[in-house]
Amino acid sequence: MGGGPVDGENADGSASTVHPGTDHPGTDESGSDQPGTESAGHVPVLVRRVDELLAPAIEAATRSGARDVVLVDATLGMGGHTLAMLSAHPALRVIGIDRDPQALRIAQRRLTEAGLSERVELVHAVYDRIGDVIAERVGGGRVQAILFDLGVSSVQLDEADRGFAYAHDAPLDMRMDPATGISAAEVINSYPGAELTRILREYGEERFARRIATALVAERARQPFTTSARLVELVRAAIPAATRRTGGNPAKRTFQALRIEVNDELGALQRAIPVALQHLSVAGRIVVMSYQSLEDRIVKRAIAPLTVSTTPLDLPVDLPGHDPEFAWLTRGAEIPNEYEIQANPRAASARLRAAQRIREATS
Ligand SMILES: C[S@@+](CC[C@H](N)C(=O)[O-])C[C@H]1O[C@@H](n2cnc3c(N)ncnc32)[C@H](O)[C@@H]1O
Repeated sequence: MGGGPVDGENADGSASTVHPGTDHPGTDESGSDQPGTESAGHVPVLVRRVDELLAPAIEAATRSGARDVVLVDATLGMGGHTLAMLSAHPALRVIGIDRDPQALRIAQRRLTEAGLSERVELVHAVYDRIGDVIAERVGGGRVQAILFDLGVSSVQLDEADRGFAYAHDAPLDMRMDPATGISAAEVINSYPGAELTRILREYGEERFARRIATALVAERARQPFTTSARLVELVRAAIPAATRRTGGNPAKRTFQALRIEVNDELGALQRAIPVALQHLSVAGRIVVMSYQSLEDRIVKRAIAPLTVSTTPLDLPVDLPGHDPEFAWLTRGAEIPNEYEIQANPRAASARLRAAQRIREATS
């Protein structure tokens, strides 16, 4: 549907440094430090490194005369990485997935303005449908490159009325697709206290999860929550006074936890990565950028077992079908260097992992 309308560690986990790849300030998780500029000035995180990692798979397929060389951008956002990859690789076609209809509209416009829309197909879907998306659009059902740039986009953070940013008073929504699922307000107002505690602890890594959940349950009985400012105030009041002065806005972790719950972010990622790996052709490459440790752990755990032999240790050679399917292209989770972080604050928490399929999957 080129240019058409949008349709329906290295095994040890150590971190190393990647090259600078972005050149301008972005938006940190507060979403409040940049004006609502939509796509203006948007430079994708670690874009040069992403190209460096994916290019060999794309170029090799192009050189071998493959008729269709495809990158699936599973988190299209404003299309920043897609734009860069299409510009760098004239034979490349991109299938761009996003669950956020607004992101798709912005990406479509930017791609059209850049004259690149003929080589893109945009798909409105949750990325855990990546297998069907590929099977329905790519002959042979295999692609050369897959990119996941996880989390929330600067558009989502900048659009105050979507409720992602704790710095703006806005309706507590946080759905990436505003047409499906339940809002953050519904989570806060209806979940049992124990469940709220779990979400805050697990998804927000919030030390004071129980205190905050207890305060939420008491406050919502007085009056249900509808907007973010009251939630921010409650979190601030619920945590010990000494910790209010450290580590940025105390509501940050609560907002992250709610966003993850509302969008089932970890569930979708857990389902998506193994399926994505199955749809990579031999020599195909996957790059995943995570912005918090829970995501990064899921990515590592999905890929790592495929990078080791399953031949019993006491046998001297790999049994057929037991040698590794994938090889890591990154040593541990790569992190941006100081220039990258200075240039783009959103990159500060990025953790990049990449792998290459080295043999067919065992059927
Ligand atoms: C960090 S942004 C991507 C930015 C993009 N790489 C760029 O350069 O513009 C993440 C995007 O992924 C989308 N997203 C997050 N989780 C998703 C999911 N489970 N399924 C589909 N899209 C998702 C969000 O709506 C958001 O637009």
